[in-house]
Amino acid sequence: MIEASLAGRRAFILENTRLQAPPHTPELRLRLADEITPIWKLTEEALAEIGLPPPFWAFAWAGGQALARYVLDHPEVVAGKRVIDFASGSGLVAIAAMKAGAASVLAADIDVFCEAAIGLNAEANGVEVAFTEANLLDAAPPSSAEVLLAGDICYERPMAEAVMAWLVQGRAAGANVLIGDPGRTYFPKDGLVKLAEYQVPTTRELEDMAVKRTSVWTLP
Ligand SMILES: C[S@@+](CC[C@H](N)C(=O)[O-])C[C@H]1O[C@@H](n2cnc3c(N)ncnc32)[C@H](O)[C@@H]1O
Repeated sequence: MIEASLAGRRAFILENTRLQAPPHTPELRLRLADEITPIWKLTEEALAEIGLPPPFWAFAWAGGQALARYVLDHPEVVAGKRVIDFASGSGLVAIAAMKAGAASVLAADIDVFCEAAIGLNAEANGVEVAFTEANLLDAAPPSSAEVLLAGDICYERPMAEAVMAWLVQGRAAGANVLIGDPGRTYFPKDGLVKLAEYQVPTTRELEDMAVKRTSVWTLP
């Protein structure tokens, strides 16, 4: 059983991941699971036994990789701005935004393991990222946020609908919104403008293809 504390979660992540470069953002380093540390392959029962929610933070999702690439290549989008990375997972997009010169980034994820993962990953890349486990969807996006980033958030219908409505609210309040998505079933293209398209290497252990065409979108 994983010790239920930040220190316990950090220790688990250090033992069960390797520091590696996500293929589409080779300038970053993240603690990720792979074939040597295959925590992906644990069944739901095995995960529950050790007290681990599905470890989304142990993989750089295609949507996040594309969005991180876009932010690194277009630093003007976040430079000097207060940014929220919604559904941050490993913190990949949040870290890319700090590397690109954001004034601050708040990484939000309802999985407390992300606090440990994002902390370790931010340290590995020499940046500071704030974290909240609060469900930001319970209220309108904080008015202080100038940029809302969201990587790979449309894999389940209720979440996709709730996040898209929240992002539209943020856009109406003046925030710039960027979304990375590899064509997930519940991603609504209507009303969005495509900024970039990439071929993102991923893993067949989690995805249907080894390379996924993935786009970055904005709300006009
Ligand atoms: C597919 S992962 C994407 C992670 C990261 N953005 C990336 O692209 O690598 C989705 C993440 O959404 C998080 N999530 C689900 N519901 C959420 C919510 N209401 N608020 C914040 N995060 C949420 C999950 O815990 C998970 O870490």
